[in-house]
Amino acid sequence: MRWIDGLEAAAAEKLPEAVYRYFRQGSAGGISAAEATAAWSSYRLRPRVLTDVSTVDISTTVLGTPVAVPVLVAPTTLQRQADPGGEAAMAAGVAAAGSVLGVSSNAGTAFADLGATGAPWWLQIYVVKNREVTLRMLDAAVAAGARAVVLTADTPVVGRKEDDGPTVWEVIRPGDLLANLDPGEYTDADLAKADDLTPDVIGWLAERTGLPVLVKGVLRGDDAKRCSEAGAAGVIVSNHGGRQLDGAISTAQALPEVAAALAGTSTELYIDGGIRRGEHVLTALALGARAVLLGRPALYALSVGGAAGVTRLLTELGAELEHAMRLVGSPTLADLTPDLLSR
Ligand SMILES: Cc1cc2nc3c(=O)[nH]c(=O)nc-3n(C[C@H](O)[C@H](O)[C@H](O)COP(=O)(O)O)c2cc1C
Repeated sequence: MRWIDGLEAAAAEKLPEAVYRYFRQGSAGGISAAEATAAWSSYRLRPRVLTDVSTVDISTTVLGTPVAVPVLVAPTTLQRQADPGGEAAMAAGVAAAGSVLGVSSNAGTAFADLGATGAPWWLQIYVVKNREVTLRMLDAAVAAGARAVVLTADTPVVGRKEDDGPTVWEVIRPGDLLANLDPGEYTDADLAKADDLTPDVIGWLAERTGLPVLVKGVLRGDDAKRCSEAGAAGVIVSNHGGRQLDGAISTAQALPEVAAALAGTSTELYIDGGIRRGEHVLTALALGARAVLLGRPALYALSVGGAAGVTRLLTELGAELEHAMRLVGSPTLADLTPDLLSR
């Protein structure tokens, strides 16, 4: 059996039930979460034959940072529940694979402890009602060497989860979350998500941090264009792993429209949601993404194998991508173009 396919079941064995359920779940009826992977598998490939694929190169750059594999790790919470090392273990695994990771605003590891791993990382930010709290977190991330800010734009309110049984909030420990804020310096009301954001927030974040800003959660071409015009260095097509608006379009379906809207701009295009195979990565790149991000598979790999598990996940997906590129007759990432696909 393919190791990656067994990860979720192995993580389910190992994790407390409420944690596993939290990692896996989607919002509301779970429609978007359930269909994400199938949407990638619905594409068909039109391989080129008689091309020289004796050398295949899957390395690239993401916002100027070189990566050995165009598969990055998406920001997710509660990594200390997956492995005692939490985000630092995730970062070590990512560094060994030559990739980049997103670090959640809700991380349970001090940003300063990530730097020691040598992994390039992007801070994911939820702008909250008390902007002073947001600014404190941004300053801490800049000081610790974050290379970009990922603004999560799909969360004016948190998606409704329909749990039956104990929720994760009953099992988490102090320190699992929000390790980068001083507990005396905020209230729950301060941390409520800002629901009045407009594209101006992109310039505000860029100015404060001096870092490139990516907008995560874009599913429409017109929104991608607004972000690009407001100065976004990148856009991440995402429906938050089906954890925000249930019934939101799959990212595999949304990507062509967003790619068309960003054509001719310098805004880099990324995508996450349901990507589980090298062929899915290939499809995303052929549709115009520069790299993909993984959420749940990275959490499961961290749960099952710690940092080494994360390295193995990224390396095996890279090997699958390389193999698939040989079979479609594309020796470089630049050769991955939309004409390779059919629906
Ligand atoms: C348990 C869990 C926690 C998450 N936490 C965050 C978060 O703190 N910030 C954020 O922007 N996205 C968060 N996400 C969404 C991921 O960044 C990503 O968009 C999604 O997981 C990708 O889909 P996939 O899990 O199918 O790969 C979370 C996802 C999961 C599964």
